[in-house]
Amino acid sequence: MKEDAARARLQRSAGQRARREVPLKTAAQIAGIRKASHLTRDILDALEGRVKPGITTERINTWVHEMTLAAGAIPAPLNYRGYPKSVCTSINEVICHGIPSPERVLQEGDILNIDVTSILDGYYGDCSRMFLIGEVSEEARKLVEVTRQCLVLGIAQVKPGNHVGDVGHAIQQHAEAHGYSVVRAFVGHGTGVRFHEPPDIPHYGQPGTGMEFVPNMVFTIEPMINTGGFQAKVLEDGWTAITTDGGLSAQWEHTVLVTEDGVEVLTA
Ligand code: MF3
Ligand code: CO
Ligand code: CO
Repeated sequence: MKEDAARARLQRSAGQRARREVPLKTAAQIAGIRKASHLTRDILDALEGRVKPGITTERINTWVHEMTLAAGAIPAPLNYRGYPKSVCTSINEVICHGIPSPERVLQEGDILNIDVTSILDGYYGDCSRMFLIGEVSEEARKLVEVTRQCLVLGIAQVKPGNHVGDVGHAIQQHAEAHGYSVVRAFVGHGTGVRFHEPPDIPHYGQPGTGMEFVPNMVFTIEPMINTGGFQAKVLEDGWTAITTDGGLSAQWEHTVLVTEDGVEVLTA
C-alpha cells in the first residue's frame, strides 16, 4: 500500500537520524562493553551482604576501588570532571552523585544507591542498585520496589522502531500512578566508549517521540523517583544532588544494548 511505503520511508529516515547522531557500536566494541558491564554487575553482586548498618560509605568506596583494580579495570568516577571518589553512594533524600565519606555510617532504615561504573580495556559499563539497610520503613521499601519496576518497564520498551519517549513514558506512568515524581534534572545516557555519550534518555515523556532506537545503540536507563516533588538541588560540594523538599529518592540503573529484535541488558 502507498501509505505503508510512506511510513517505511519515514521510519528509515528516523533510523538514519539516529545513525548520524548516535555512535552505533561495532561488534568488537559491543564485546568490550559487555565485559565491562559484567564486571560492574559482579562488583555490585560482591557488595550484597557486605553493605549493612555500621559500615561507612568510605568503606564501600574502598571495596569498589580495590575490586575494580583487581579486575584490571579503572573506576570511571574517580577524577571524572573532578569527582573525588571511585563510586557514588546516595542515601535517602540524595537523588544521585552522593560522595562516599568516612563520616557517613549506614544506619538501620537507610535506603542506599550504589552506582558503579568500570572502564575495562577502554570500555564502560554503568550500573546501580538500591540497598536496604536493615529494617526500612514500608514507605521506603515501596519506593525502592516501584523504582525497580520503573527500570524494568523502561527496558521493556527498548527495541528497533520504538522511541526514546516510549521509555520515558512507561517509567513516568508507573511512577506517577503510585503518587511519585520523576526527576528531570538527570537522565540516562549513551555510554560504552565514553562515560556519557548521546543520546539522552529522559525518564519521562510522550510515546513515539524522540530518537528512534536502532540496533547497536548502547545506553543507560536509570530512573530517579521521588516520594515528593521532582525538584533537585546540588550541594556545596558540587556533586551531591538532593530533593529540595527532603522527600526520599530511589534509583536503579542498567546499561542496555539495542539488538536486531529487542534488547540485551548488558549489566544483568
Ligand atoms: N554513574 C553515574 C551515571 O549513572 C555518573 C556518575 S558521574 C560521577 O551516569 F562523577 F559522579 F561519578
Ligand atoms: Co549512568
Ligand atoms: Co551510573
